[in-house]
Amino acid sequence: MNDSIYILKNYILHRIKARGRHSLHSPFVFDLYESCVSDPAKSSFKESIEKIRKDLLADHSTIKIEDMGAGSRVNNSAQRKINQVAKHSLKSAKEAQFLACLCQKIDARKIIELGTSFGITTAYVAKNNPQAQLHSVEGSPEIAAIAKVNLKELEISNTTIYQGNFDVVFPELLKEVEADIIFIDGNHTKEATLRYFEMALDHINKKGLIVFDDIYWSIGMTEAWQSIIKNSRVSISIDFFHLGVVSLNEDYTKQDFKLLM
Ligand SMILES: C[S@@+](CC[C@H](N)C(=O)[O-])C[C@H]1O[C@@H](n2cnc3c(N)ncnc32)[C@H](O)[C@@H]1O
Repeated sequence: MNDSIYILKNYILHRIKARGRHSLHSPFVFDLYESCVSDPAKSSFKESIEKIRKDLLADHSTIKIEDMGAGSRVNNSAQRKINQVAKHSLKSAKEAQFLACLCQKIDARKIIELGTSFGITTAYVAKNNPQAQLHSVEGSPEIAAIAKVNLKELEISNTTIYQGNFDVVFPELLKEVEADIIFIDGNHTKEATLRYFEMALDHINKKGLIVFDDIYWSIGMTEAWQSIIKNSRVSISIDFFHLGVVSLNEDYTKQDFKLLM
């Protein structure tokens, strides 16, 4: 089955199986859904961040990409136009605001993001969580350089961008930072996703959350997600189709949710 058909088939199945807020008996998930999905607060930073996205989407200049991940479905050449990279790799405003809201809900102080790209999601999270320190990792030097410029333009000072391979930078970061939340949005292979999950397990706050992007991007990514939610350390899992959230909080009864975003 080709990848687009695989994603479409799973999207249809998700729409059929996913439930809304009335099915939520977990207070934690209900509260999270109410605040971050049903009725999210409007971010006052949206306009300035979306202006940067718009500029990226209008930028036809070429940059050199050092791909350290699973590659792109659309264009795997080493030289790519900024607008094309922006079009195909950035999360929507809705998803980025959801992640920012998730951090607010758990009052996250330490956040790790694997996959900065141009810093759009990073910006939503950092601006809406001034109490937190955000550590974001990007492998491609020219992309990381643009992200740094964008964060500077937005006057973001609670974020550090590390340029390097996740496999090298992430274990080093985990030695220093006990994270409250970790976003994994890059290197979408089954092996890498499971590797980062295993690395995170012993270095994340007991009540911490891990968010995986693109859990239906490929059969391998879905297998990784299925294996993660079965892990005995995971209490609650929430499958939002485009992304999956797991909680390691032992106070919650084990439950798996499929929800619409
Ligand atoms: C999907 S994009 C991230 C999008 C970003 N989170 C957003 O929504 O604005 C994934 C990024 O991860 C980077 N990446 C992939 N694999 C990597 C690896 N092994 N080490 C470092 N960076 C990697 C890619 O260069 C790419 O910029």
